Amino acid sequence: MDGLIEAALHVRDHAHAPFSEFKVGAALEGDDGQIHTGCNVENATYGLTVCAERVAVFKAVSEGARKFRRIAVVADTDALTPPCGACRQILWEFCGDIEVILANLHGKTESLRLKELFPRPFDASFL
Ligand code: THU
Repeated sequence: MDGLIEAALHVRDHAHAPFSEFKVGAALEGDDGQIHTGCNVENATYGLTVCAERVAVFKAVSEGARKFRRIAVVADTDALTPPCGACRQILWEFCGDIEVILANLHGKTESLRLKELFPRPFDASFL
C-alpha cells in the first residue's frame, strides 16, 4: 500500500467524531518527502468542526512546510470521500494543483488533481 494512504488510514484512528461518527484521515506529503497527518476534530457546536484535510495543512504550515506534492484522504465509504468545499479552497491556497488521492478501508483508491475538484478557484491572483 502507498505509504501516504497508510499514514492517512492510521491517523483516521485519532479522529474525534462523536457527533457524526464519520472518521476521516488525511496525509499531506511535502516536497521533501515528509508526511503531515490530520484527522477531523468535531465540536459540540458543530460549526467549529475542522476537517482532516485542513488539520493536516495547518499542522504542516505551522511546522514551516510550504511546498507539497500529494494528499491522501481516507474514509469508510464505498463512494470515495472527496475534500469539502472549504478544504478545497485551503488546499488550493497552500498546495496549488496537487495530486489528491482518495481511498477507503477496502483498498479502493482514485487519484485526481485538485484542479479537477476545484476548477475555477478564487485566490491571491485576483487581489
Ligand atoms: N470531514 C472531513 O474531515 N473531511 C472530508 O473530506 C469530509 C468531511 C469530516 C467533517 C465532519 O467531522 C465529518 O467528516 C462529517 O461531515
